[in-house]
Amino acid sequence: MVAEYRADDWHSYHMDYRRPHDALEPLEKEMQVVNEALNVLRETGIIPHREYDHQRFLAFRRAVAEEFEIPWTAITPRMQRLLYAINAIVQPKVMIAAGVFCGNTFISNAGAAVGAGACYTAEDLVGVEIKPEEAERAERNVRRLDPSGVARIVAADAVDVVARYHGPIDLLYLDADGDGRRGKGIYLDIVEAALDKLHPGSVLLAHNSVNCAEMLRHDLDFVRDGSHCRASVNVILDGEGLEVSLI
Ligand SMILES: C[S@@+](CC[C@H](N)C(=O)[O-])C[C@H]1O[C@@H](n2cnc3c(N)ncnc32)[C@H](O)[C@@H]1O
Repeated sequence: MVAEYRADDWHSYHMDYRRPHDALEPLEKEMQVVNEALNVLRETGIIPHREYDHQRFLAFRRAVAEEFEIPWTAITPRMQRLLYAINAIVQPKVMIAAGVFCGNTFISNAGAAVGAGACYTAEDLVGVEIKPEEAERAERNVRRLDPSGVARIVAADAVDVVARYHGPIDLLYLDADGDGRRGKGIYLDIVEAALDKLHPGSVLLAHNSVNCAEMLRHDLDFVRDGSHCRASVNVILDGEGLEVSLI
């Protein structure tokens, strides 16, 4: 099943990439939009329910604002809440995030299992970043929130990391922008390298399903093909978008 959620104001909802902690709207509105998106994910069978702990989410958000060094990010407050909620609901034991830059995009997923917003116990949460200096900063950021090491950053090519991963992957988050030629077209390479670790019930999240839709078309064609994924929803709550798919 292929579906779409579109917030009525997605086009006018903008953030300043260099001021990620600014409030863009009343909290009630943010919660309403994310709840509507979660409803569509529930109706399509991608998530079993839409309940998550709002207070823990706010504790997580505060911790990131206080502890993380973020030069810029395209993760809007709506997207941060959506990623946290999906992880809090799906509760992946193993989550791999590909292309994490300073780590904000990674912790938006992993923050459901580690630090102030933790609501379940995970086994291995891996953020992969190909630029060593960015990976170092992301690792510093993540360590401040998670001294346990369950959430960790690896400086490597995400295609290699998922290909060599030793066990099942429950949630795969895609945000790598590849090299100059492929750009975000690398998403499908990462999915294909991970295929033998994905299982029925694995969730794929692809950031930029709206503003990079053309570059992502091979990946979007793949996840919207019913022979690969049982359901896929394009969640358009901001100008970036998130494709959420269930294997
Ligand atoms: C555009 S950034 C993601 C930023 C994120 N959307 C945010 O708003 O915070 C993409 C990152 O992917 C990294 N990257 C590109 N190709 C990669 C690959 N093959 N494996 C891992 N990381 C990769 C880049 O170095 C870059 O830091």
